[in-house]
Amino acid sequence: MRILFLGDIVGRPGRNTVRELLPGIIQEVSPDLIIANAENIAGGKGMNRKTIQEMMDLGIDVFTGGNHSFKNTEGVELLESGQLPVLRPANFPIGTAGTGWRIVRSRSGKRVLVISLIARIFMPQFVDSPFQSLEDILKSVSPGDYDASFVDFHGEATSEKQALRWTFDGKVSAIVGTHTHVQTADADVSQLGTAYVTDTGMCGSLDSCIGVEKDIIIRLMKTQMPVTHVLEKRGRMQLNGTLIDIAEDGKAMQIAIVRKIV
Ligand SMILES: [Fe+2]
Ligand SMILES: [Fe+2]
Repeated sequence: MRILFLGDIVGRPGRNTVRELLPGIIQEVSPDLIIANAENIAGGKGMNRKTIQEMMDLGIDVFTGGNHSFKNTEGVELLESGQLPVLRPANFPIGTAGTGWRIVRSRSGKRVLVISLIARIFMPQFVDSPFQSLEDILKSVSPGDYDASFVDFHGEATSEKQALRWTFDGKVSAIVGTHTHVQTADADVSQLGTAYVTDTGMCGSLDSCIGVEKDIIIRLMKTQMPVTHVLEKRGRMQLNGTLIDIAEDGKAMQIAIVRKIV
């Protein structure tokens, strides 16, 4: 089975880039399941029904979340309703809108346990341990109920992502990072069959500071004065993802990075 994962889709520039490039990628690699991180999908912060539906129409099957998942009320309502296949990180406290994992069917009929998790180091939220949360999820679901498992670990610190990787080595099919918006060059499958990359990267503007007009972020960094984020709509656009091949026994065989610039 082949899973295509797209890193944080950032606002309209990100959605337009996905619309331009995803059909060709689907033709080229024929994924059985497409997952994307949606925390920035609407206006760069948060989610709404229209933008999720727009990406579902292009073939994306399920969406993971992050620190921006709850940035607008429509996104919260979306998570509360459970009508669309949208997850928020599982390790938010009990009572938080939405759910952090679900089992979805791939095009080839395989059952994939998709889990969204958020890290704690250098992250603004006070959340439960992602380590404990993942252990609890894996205990609560019978291994017979799914054929493969996929974890989006949304975080800033490489060390925390690597620690989660090795803690659950051989216990899940894939752990891929998101949140930094910059793709890392460490995609690898462990000897126990868990695919891993520290960060998948983002979909949206390349000539920017992680999607935002660079002059705005430069002003913030130089002066510390408050700024309003405006997404960069000009210049080159990028699509970043990972492509993971998983065997019948749920072990990853291969992970390849996807990186396209237009
Ligand atoms: Fe993001
Ligand atoms: Fe994030």
